[in-house]
Amino acid sequence: MPLLRVPRQRSPLNSCDRIETLAMTRPFHVRIEDLKLRDREPRNDVPPVAALTGGGKAFFLETFGCQMNDHDSEKVAGLLLSRGYQQVETPEAASLILYNTCSIREKAAQKVFSRLGEYREKQSAGKVIGVLGCVAQQEGEEIFRRAPWVNLVCGSASYRKLPEMLGQLEAGNQRVTGLETDTDETFETEVTRRDNPWRAYLTIIEGCDKACSYCVVPFTRGPERSRASDSILREVRQLAELGYSEVQLLGQTVNSYADPTPRRMRFSELLLAVADVQGIRRVRFTTSHPSDFRPDIVEAIERQPKICDHVHLPVQSGSTRVLRAMQRTYSREEYLEKIALIRAANRPIAITTDVIVGFPGETEAEFEETLSLLDEVQYDSLFSFKYSPRPNTPSLSMNDSISEEEKSRRLAVLQDRQRGIQSAKNARLVGNRFEVLVSGKSRRDCQWSGYTTSHRMVNFASQGRELLGTYVQVRITGVTPNSLAGEHVT
Ligand code: 5AD
Ligand code: SF4
Repeated sequence: MPLLRVPRQRSPLNSCDRIETLAMTRPFHVRIEDLKLRDREPRNDVPPVAALTGGGKAFFLETFGCQMNDHDSEKVAGLLLSRGYQQVETPEAASLILYNTCSIREKAAQKVFSRLGEYREKQSAGKVIGVLGCVAQQEGEEIFRRAPWVNLVCGSASYRKLPEMLGQLEAGNQRVTGLETDTDETFETEVTRRDNPWRAYLTIIEGCDKACSYCVVPFTRGPERSRASDSILREVRQLAELGYSEVQLLGQTVNSYADPTPRRMRFSELLLAVADVQGIRRVRFTTSHPSDFRPDIVEAIERQPKICDHVHLPVQSGSTRVLRAMQRTYSREEYLEKIALIRAANRPIAITTDVIVGFPGETEAEFEETLSLLDEVQYDSLFSFKYSPRPNTPSLSMNDSISEEEKSRRLAVLQDRQRGIQSAKNARLVGNRFEVLVSGKSRRDCQWSGYTTSHRMVNFASQGRELLGTYVQVRITGVTPNSLAGEHVT
């Protein structure tokens, strides 16, 4: 199976989305009514899809959302490249415009329709426009009604049908949909066009079988499906041969991995097997669900230094009452037991989390329980969000009575508390040495950046040349709450 590598290409709109800092927290507060149709009548004057049947097939792909979406886009791009398309950097240069969407919070979903509005004129210029991902799944054919210039609507659980759907578009079909979620298949491609030349994402489990009451993912990404361990390991070996040294295993609940092959590899065994592949220096995994987080994962990290010392373990709330209402399947105490397990490891492991403030009915005292949990756990980083009601979710019927102002206040208080924790924790790192995988070069002379195994961002000075993609030792000389600064030591 060939894997293709082309230069990194990423929408600036999304370029700072997932840096693990307080600064990246994105509060969303757009009402779902704003997404409703203005013109309910389907348009029947859609011009024929001609663009894809002529010569020069070129696509532009824009991506919003999580790492899973990023990686889905990498696979979709690979699929298109293998069908003779070229990837281009602007919608103007493309005959096919694809937009991979996110609907985790209202604001993200709302962006989609304003963006589609911008693409309207492109369709009259004969271009084909497709909506992929979670909004496609959630809104379905409604997208054709609201944005009749769209030709393709495909949710992530239907990506395995994309070749067939592309064939239909190429044959001149004007409206093609892939909206099934009822599947036990994962999306595997022969060719993947990865954005980052050193760190490869690899989805090992798709969908989600948990039923957190606020979350759209089980509806937009379908049921949990794990990829066969032999297929994962085969791809890791190919990645290593291509020069990738860091692999990040992805899943909404990555540690719920259940190998469908007779080998029945446990998640921790898979981590160890991936780390054993020659050429692989770092193995990351995200996101872990607390209920499925067991001692063997910590044992694997202890045993194998290539498994990164970082666990992202979303807590969502520090109040057991709120956790129950969220259907999170653990209490504050049970969560803290998992933290104790990680803290007892024989090497320090960074812990990061997600928190939602202002869940329906969250009292001031319950919010303060979340603050006290932050004090107790001392997270290395935190992603925080204001509760956002989502279609189809059980919490939609709960009274979302906490005002936007109050949600914003709680978010600010939470972020302020965490900023203090991170400042103090980072200050203790001054003088330490870390191994950094260099992934960025500043315009300023001799300034570089990269990540430690614990996923701390480090900016550092070096007289070195050609450092990108290499592993260097950096001594920490200064800190901010969100990053470290240092100098290259040899
Ligand atoms: N409102 C606010 N935040 C949400 N998240 C998921 N659904 C919602 C919602 N409806 C957050 C959770 C999750 C992260 C990816 O997004 O914290 O862990
Ligand atoms: Fe959503 Fe909960 Fe599944 Fe995470 S575990 S994707 S929050 S339903």
